[in-house]
Amino acid sequence: MLFLDSLAGKSTARMPVWLMRQAGRYLPEYRALRTKAKNFLSFCYTPDLAIEATLQPIRRFWFDAAILFSDILVIPDALGVNVRFVENEGPVLEPVSADAIKGLSPARALSHLAPVFAAVRGIRAALPGETALIGFAGAPWTVATYMIEGRGGTDHEKSRAFAAAQPEAFAQLLAVIEAATIDYLIAQIDAGVNVLQLFDSWASSVPQALRRQAVFEPTARIVAAVKAKAPNIPIIGFPRGIGLDLARYVAATGVDAVSLDQSVDIFTARKVLGAHVTTQGNLDPVLLADAPEAAMASARAIMAAASGMPHIFNLGHGILPRTPIEHVERLVALLRGGA
Ligand code: CP3
Repeated sequence: MLFLDSLAGKSTARMPVWLMRQAGRYLPEYRALRTKAKNFLSFCYTPDLAIEATLQPIRRFWFDAAILFSDILVIPDALGVNVRFVENEGPVLEPVSADAIKGLSPARALSHLAPVFAAVRGIRAALPGETALIGFAGAPWTVATYMIEGRGGTDHEKSRAFAAAQPEAFAQLLAVIEAATIDYLIAQIDAGVNVLQLFDSWASSVPQALRRQAVFEPTARIVAAVKAKAPNIPIIGFPRGIGLDLARYVAATGVDAVSLDQSVDIFTARKVLGAHVTTQGNLDPVLLADAPEAAMASARAIMAAASGMPHIFNLGHGILPRTPIEHVERLVALLRGGA
């Protein structure tokens, strides 16, 4: 597979491409499918629907990789926390207290997630042989922020305060998420995924003093535990907004590849990371949504900056729901050498 060759650090005839959140609301067929489930979590837990949502962007754009249709918040849900997705608002969770953390039950998490593994088996069976299947999970800090805050956000003041004021409960929370995540990722591999991505979408809000405890160490232990079971499955890390700590993240965690948000200078990243690390991403999703000419120019610049280096074409964050399909078509044509 072209995708796995690139992750193995080999030079490839063309740059592989997929887009974060490629299955989603910018596709009319996704919006139609979504109406068949009573809520977002039951959508994720209905294998036929999750299989279909995963395959939709592959049929349209022939991306080099499919990503399992699920969500990072199935882990808190499986641990017994109340998780809801509210229309036009996003996820709403019952915020955890120090006491509630003691009551979280990693033991039942895997059986709760059985429909996800059924979806993985169905997706792998339906995908073309040359298309890689990416499994994923949220990294512990990012998942913990949703569990502490009760909803999304950007600066996570409550999480930072919780970590400082209740350090034991915070450590316990990270440990429970880490343990459940290791089991979850290994079960995805057993069901047939070829690659894993760890989304640390809110690494941006971790204070420097917490980086080792909340980002580097849990991620390193997850990578080591997964590699001990499945040494050949590449792992992509996405420490969004990690800034100057990018190289430290790669060195400390042992990920095979790192996804770059749009704030990173790709020339600098390629220089500090070295040729053995595969990079991914970097195109600003806003350009693809709202400024297609600029998006194509930026895509060309990324291709030039990474030429001769292993790089997977992607956005710096998920595709925005307002993105016109024609912009995605143009981008894919460019990557395929047609524009
Ligand atoms: O196409 C894919 O990438 C596969 C599926 C996928 C979803 N979420 C589906 C989804 C993946 C990989 C995710 C990861 C995810 N979920 C992350 C990490 C990536 C990132 O964007 O930073 C995070 C932080 C979440 C949590 C989450 N899920 C939020 C904040 C929201 C609401 C905001 C939004 O984008 O709607 C979701 C809901 C969600 N997850 C949707 C989809 C398609 C939209 C819900 C719907 O269709 O009603």
